[in-house]
Amino acid sequence: MLLRIHQALQADELAQVRQLILAADWADGRITAGSQSGAVKNNRQLPEDLPAAQQARHIVSVALARNPLFVTGALPKSVYPPLFNRYGGHANHFGDHIDNAVRTHAATGRHVRTDISCTLFLSDPASYDGGELVVQDTYGEQRIKFEAGDLVLYPGTSVHRVEPVTRGERLACFFWIESMVRSDAQRRLLYEMDMAITSLRQKNLERAPQNPGQGQPGDAIESPEAVRLTGCYHNLLRMWAGV
Ligand code: NI
Repeated sequence: MLLRIHQALQADELAQVRQLILAADWADGRITAGSQSGAVKNNRQLPEDLPAAQQARHIVSVALARNPLFVTGALPKSVYPPLFNRYGGHANHFGDHIDNAVRTHAATGRHVRTDISCTLFLSDPASYDGGELVVQDTYGEQRIKFEAGDLVLYPGTSVHRVEPVTRGERLACFFWIESMVRSDAQRRLLYEMDMAITSLRQKNLERAPQNPGQGQPGDAIESPEAVRLTGCYHNLLRMWAGV
């Protein structure tokens, strides 16, 4: 499942992150690549122990944790601390690869299975040419170039690349998620069900009389169908979640 989350960062957070990382010292992107991806990777990356990286990471992490769409789409168990990269000039692309299945955080030794790969766009798409994230899936290639502040989640199992940036510069934040639900198909089903239940409850609310006169305010939202479907959601999650 590919999922777009609009404005995962608000404008002030985006400005803070950009200011922090643009002023920092960048390194060759191969510092976190495996042997195959290292051979096709040509970008720059922010060393994760820099204070600027830590501060920017904190802003992103706080924004993600409060985002309900991110939580319902990813069902995160563990998030690899966000990293930052930039593409431009001679270091401008990253060829086809699959991300390593397990990332081990250098500072903590913690392992994260990369069920979901994430890219948070940090540059105005009008400010650069190229730089599309191209993800291969069963429908063919998905070419992704979102507004600054928008996030894409895609399966960690996907072959993907970043097209050469031929004008300007593409800044991004990237990271991986180990999900409570390992299977992409199961996560997708849960996501669809969650969205449908949310819509059903909203419709219940809109249909409810303005002044019911009796009963509790939540009664209109929690129709018997909504209650039972919510129960099914949680029972599926209980069946599939590894926590
Ligand atoms: Ni990758």
